[in-house]
Amino acid sequence: MTRHDYPDRIKLAEGLAAGVAAVLAGGIATRGNALLAISGGSTPALFFEHLSNADIDWRVVTVTLVDERCVPADNDRSNAGLVGRTLLRNHAMQARFLPLFDATAVDALASARKSMALAPEPDAVVLGMGGDGHTASFFPGGDHLAEALDTNSPHRVESMRAPGAGEPRLTLTLHYLLTARFLALHIEGDEKRAVLDQALADGPVVELPVRAVLRGAANRLNVFWAP
Ligand code: 6PG
Repeated sequence: MTRHDYPDRIKLAEGLAAGVAAVLAGGIATRGNALLAISGGSTPALFFEHLSNADIDWRVVTVTLVDERCVPADNDRSNAGLVGRTLLRNHAMQARFLPLFDATAVDALASARKSMALAPEPDAVVLGMGGDGHTASFFPGGDHLAEALDTNSPHRVESMRAPGAGEPRLTLTLHYLLTARFLALHIEGDEKRAVLDQALADGPVVELPVRAVLRGAANRLNVFWAP
């Protein structure tokens, strides 16, 4: 694991945006296109705003979500809504957005699995973490936590209901997230750093599911932190 500690959140947003933009540019140079999977919640908005100004060829970039709350895109809690407001503007307005949750689908999980099956492996994945040690929608007590963390899972998307999750969720699976060429965990504040330190210690994955990423990605994980 590589730690990238910043003195403040603005510098972190700039640094993470520059790093992700470079990875996407590398994917474009190598394969002609790039896939970025990002998290929702409150932490990433500033990073998205900086990334939206990155001068790369967004026309060949697909943006998708690490996880999504099963609510319509115009709901305040929709991660797609957040990405639309904060990332898909400025230069990044030209990117293609691949949503995880389709409110019109009869079976939202089947629909998400179908669309993600066609996606390439991600160039960059940026995860967040909750104070309860969840990342993506790998929640403690999640009804499909074992399936989502199963590295032999044939699926790239899993559904999740959990006491701490609010509404039902869809999440990319650990197996698929770990295929990312660049994997980052973006956390802010002393409280989350303490949770991370706790997760780095021995203990069951089901208690602090972020452990699955810390252990699965091992020395490939980049942790971005600011107070
Ligand atoms: C979500 C996320 C989730 C998030 C953490 C941290 O949709 O909730 O993708 O995994 O990264 O909950 O959220 P905050 O940034 O709001 O603390």
